[in-house]
Amino acid sequence: MTSYHNTFAASELENNSNKAISINGKNILICNSGGDFYAIDNLCTHQRAELEGGRIRNCFISCPLHGVRFNLETGKPMGQMTNIPLATYPIKVSETGIIQVEV
Ligand code: FES
Repeated sequence: MTSYHNTFAASELENNSNKAISINGKNILICNSGGDFYAIDNLCTHQRAELEGGRIRNCFISCPLHGVRFNLETGKPMGQMTNIPLATYPIKVSETGIIQVEV
């Protein structure tokens, strides 16, 4: 069964930055793009590099290893290196400003 898990304060994550957390043993990356928050698997579908620290621009994150760009909303990759999408997770910010992710 899935449920929302508290993570950390939305104010801790600057625009165009990301932070990895573990929820139920899953390695999940929380991203801020333009004030919108996204939760994706923290593992590239090309060669399984961690995406943490990847550059975020306009709702896309670039893998730090070979640069494949993934859409943060859909998980879909761009380009030829992989056509496997990332898993994405429902995310919201609570009334008290805490980011919550459904896993
Ligand atoms: S491992 Fe991410 S692009 Fe190659």
